[in-house]
Amino acid sequence: MAVTAQPKLDARKLRADFPIFEQAFHGKPLAFLDSAASSQKPRQMLAAMTQFYETSYANVHRGVYELAERATAGLETAREKVRALLNAPAAREVIFVRNATEALNLVAYAWGLTNLRPGDVVVVTELEHHSNFVPWQYIAGRTGAEFRLIPLDDEGQLRLDALENVAGEGNVRVVAAGVVSNSLGTVNQVERLAAWAHEQGAIMVADAAQAAPHRVLDVQALGADFVAISAHKMCGPSGVGALWGRAELLERMEPFLVGGHMIRSVRADVTTWGELPHKFEAGTAPMAEAVGFGAAIDYLTEIGFDAIEQYEHELVAYALEQLSDVPGIRLYGPPAEQRAGIVSFNLDDVHPHDVAQVLDLDGIAIRAGHHCCQPLMSRLGVAATNRASFYVYTLPEEIDRLVSGLHRVRKVFA
Ligand SMILES: Cc1ncc(COP(=O)(O)O)c(C=O)c1O
Repeated sequence: MAVTAQPKLDARKLRADFPIFEQAFHGKPLAFLDSAASSQKPRQMLAAMTQFYETSYANVHRGVYELAERATAGLETAREKVRALLNAPAAREVIFVRNATEALNLVAYAWGLTNLRPGDVVVVTELEHHSNFVPWQYIAGRTGAEFRLIPLDDEGQLRLDALENVAGEGNVRVVAAGVVSNSLGTVNQVERLAAWAHEQGAIMVADAAQAAPHRVLDVQALGADFVAISAHKMCGPSGVGALWGRAELLERMEPFLVGGHMIRSVRADVTTWGELPHKFEAGTAPMAEAVGFGAAIDYLTEIGFDAIEQYEHELVAYALEQLSDVPGIRLYGPPAEQRAGIVSFNLDDVHPHDVAQVLDLDGIAIRAGHHCCQPLMSRLGVAATNRASFYVYTLPEEIDRLVSGLHRVRKVFA
């Protein structure tokens, strides 16, 4: 199969927006195949942050002078852009956090510590990123709740037939699952899980860190109660992410972090909390980062999330086809139709770090390791894999370079 000229997404043209590609690495053009870890940054986003710092910078929400009001407007405009991206009902349900990990910890601590008790069951998946696994395992441990996994089949799909057994373990109160696996690219059936969670009387927590950059994400259609995303994986800056939560749940929750900005009133005997979203935004907000996040959302919206998903789908189908011809390769995960632009593999008995290091000499950047998914690695029976991941600036010839590079790796370690 060939990657067709995609009329809606011109990766070659978009690539010119990303200054990182102007450099050579080991004398070769950069083939950046590690966007699932963090994406590269377009000039438009960088310019929006610089402009904010140069023309609109002051602390937000506190000043009455014009500059502070301008900064506040910058932050709140960004919040509205995140709301629109997620099709969330209200901007006050969008909380700025440092990253998806913090968003998930916020829910685990602020909802879990108050609502979980012995006899309750917290359910995550065997596929989960540690960021949506460890907080729940930890809070379940602290509250005496049981912690259970939805197992995987051999293709890396969730075994939803196991849900009945899980329900028999106790009072299911939390179901936490990723929308797209960062390791295998599996697109999970979160809508079905959310419906099941609600039948059990549980909350549904969706980790959309790996979905938001690549496809339309509509929190109302998803049916989850909380959704976590990170800006840095979607052309935005590091240091900012967002949690969306249903207002009725957020309003009933205790705060996560306490201190400046998040209060209504503070007295020696009692402190009361501010309104949403401020109750969950203690301290100075990541203002410039939020503005950059908003600019990244504009950038991706202009390309079109349907076009992005379709293009990545072509890339992953092409990659799976080309890679499967490499002798000694073992590919993990479902067929192309059921996955996003991520491919995990191992090559003969060569350690993934050695594979990645040899490829680096050709200017090819891929990831090697457990990808923050050690339970998944145990399920696959490996300590680590190699992972190539794609984005709007990935060119089909970079996949060809990866394949040629793997042939060279085999020669080096023959
Ligand atoms: C599926 C998934 N969830 C959560 C995270 C954590 O994101 P962050 O490091 O931005 O908190 C990642 C990052 O790799 C991820 O891929």
